[in-house]
Amino acid sequence: MGYAEVYERAKSDPYGFWMDAADAIDWDTPPSKALFADNAPLYEWFSDGMVNTCWNAVDRHVEAGHGERIAIIHDSPVTHTRREISYVELRNRVATLAGALRAKGVEKGDTVIIYMPMIPEALEAMLACARIGAIHSVVFGGFAANELAVRVDDAKPKCIIAASCGIEPGRIVHYKPLLDGALEAATHQPDFCVIFQREQEVAKLTEGRDFNWHGFQYGVEPADCVPVEGNHPAYVLYTSGTTGQPKGVVRHTAGHLVALNWSMRNIYDMNPGEVFWAASDVGWVVGHSYICYAPLVFGCTTIVFEGKPVGTPDAGTFWRVIRDHKVKCLFTAPTAFRAIKREDPRGELIGNYDISSLETLFLAGERADPDTITWAQDKLGVPVIDHWWQTETGWAIAANPMGIEPLPVKLGSPSVPMPGYDVQILDEGGHPVPDGELGAIAVKLPLPPGTLPTLWNAEARYRKSYLEHFPGYYETGDAGMKDEDGYLYIMARTDDVINVAGHRLSTGAMEEVLAAHPDVAECAVIGASDTLKGQVPVGFLCLNSGTTAPAESVVADCVKLVRDRIGPVAAFKLAVVVDRLPKTRSGKILRGTMVKIADGEDFKLPATIDDPAILDEIGAALKSIGYPGA
Ligand code: COA
Ligand code: AMP
Repeated sequence: MGYAEVYERAKSDPYGFWMDAADAIDWDTPPSKALFADNAPLYEWFSDGMVNTCWNAVDRHVEAGHGERIAIIHDSPVTHTRREISYVELRNRVATLAGALRAKGVEKGDTVIIYMPMIPEALEAMLACARIGAIHSVVFGGFAANELAVRVDDAKPKCIIAASCGIEPGRIVHYKPLLDGALEAATHQPDFCVIFQREQEVAKLTEGRDFNWHGFQYGVEPADCVPVEGNHPAYVLYTSGTTGQPKGVVRHTAGHLVALNWSMRNIYDMNPGEVFWAASDVGWVVGHSYICYAPLVFGCTTIVFEGKPVGTPDAGTFWRVIRDHKVKCLFTAPTAFRAIKREDPRGELIGNYDISSLETLFLAGERADPDTITWAQDKLGVPVIDHWWQTETGWAIAANPMGIEPLPVKLGSPSVPMPGYDVQILDEGGHPVPDGELGAIAVKLPLPPGTLPTLWNAEARYRKSYLEHFPGYYETGDAGMKDEDGYLYIMARTDDVINVAGHRLSTGAMEEVLAAHPDVAECAVIGASDTLKGQVPVGFLCLNSGTTAPAESVVADCVKLVRDRIGPVAAFKLAVVVDRLPKTRSGKILRGTMVKIADGEDFKLPATIDDPAILDEIGAALKSIGYPGA
């Protein structure tokens, strides 16, 4: 069957299509049907099946005789180490860790926060939670203590599993002091913490609260897999929304397993036993889906890469990893390729490595600019596939389904909707617009399996954020268009989310931090185009009248404040002091117009602007920090 037939079948017979896909999963009790629509517009998949994620990701491969197959390769140029873990080793390690968690009282339905760098123990912690039906929430290491505290208070974990440190080029990330700071700031306190001590930094444990990863597993009874209902949350992953309060995206167990397993063959063209490498981080959705769960559920080898595309040690690292581990499919963010291209524009380092195992490069996380795609195509000689998805969906909304039928690549487009996604481009009134016209991108409900059913403890926010604007649809928050062949083009966000080096950040959250500075009366943060990172945040600060502090010192304070409150990942380094902000007569800040000025693009003078002269002031302020053209 070609793509068109597969897509049509999923549309005309979603029950049959997804029940067939569900056959590839080991169930303790098979579901009676695929879709549960009784609570529409809230939908669930496979709710009454009983299943365990860890069994499907680990044990079943051992039972099928593949115990010696390598499950995880840890390749860590920052520590100069490499390690391979077979499926049988992984099963034993995860069962013991799960047993130790259970011995300390962690049960099905309890939440566990995982705060770890790119080490196999991060995946083991995720799988150990899944084994006993605990719900994990992984927090990215580049966030500050305050962001961790916000997540602790929302997820209310019984336990936090952390490492002593992470390693960024040139500096150690002190996870344990960050964890301690977060717990001082948080209202909720976990019953206990488990700390994986790394040799690069041994953390001081808090007596009675913290346990050593190895010590607390000593002598415990390994845990078996606990079957859970199909609609039992496998995990909660926080992502940026419009405000400083992140959204806890919930992932139900069964739909997650079915969709990810389906995607490995049909989108990524993988076979069990082959090597899949998602160069991302376990703290992001790409890491959840394609470093941890999908490759393991499907029986592939996954790579946990602790390094950067450049500087660890050079722009040839990716090619070295592909050669050493015979990677068939690489998945990363376009930023990584822009970084490599900047260091090695002619791709000369590629010639030093035999990368003939590589068959496809997949890009996602941000818009893939045509230059980067053509560079990668030329230099690697393999298909370069842009695909579009979000934390909320957990897997691709649009892609080129390489395992079904490779479709012609159109530069600038992540290709076509995947089965189960009925993607429509809508005008403000919710009516579909003609092909080629811009609009809000929405997906007709129900979304396919694996996508978010709700937000953690925030159903009203889920409805408001995603379902209310366009009744009957899921609002993606992206704007774009569809062409006459059904190819999608993702152009911009419709909200305050920006994308910095493939990392999703909220300008609203940064504004909340800036507004807390005692000298700042008013502020705005925009995402300005950046040749490496796609976008970078730029802050505009209006100071309180009577403020005597020099502008530079307020700017320096604000940069530090965002780093301390949100984290280095915010990459907030640029801010300017201005007298006033451009606003509509009703008081709305014209952020979109400010972005156009920063990017040197033409713009129409907004009809409702309060005083057009302010735009010249904004232009002058941007010029003082090198925009446009930075
Ligand atoms: N833990 C702690 N700090 C982290 C971190 C982590 N896991 N990840 C990033 N940071 C820090 C960086 O060290 C940097 O700190 P600095 O201000 O002290 O230099 C800051 O956060 C900003 O990081 P980033 O925006 O990633 O910029 P960079 O200059 O360090 O690296 C790239 C640039 C392009 C090499 C890097 O962004 C990259 O590899 N991107 C790939 C994209 C990706 O993996 N996306 C995930 C979604 S698919
Ligand atoms: P995240 O939830 O962090 O995965 O970020 C999701 C957002 O990143 C999407 O809503 C888009 O704005 C953007 N994004 C992801 N993939 C692509 C892509 N292939 N093209 C354009 N934008 C993308």
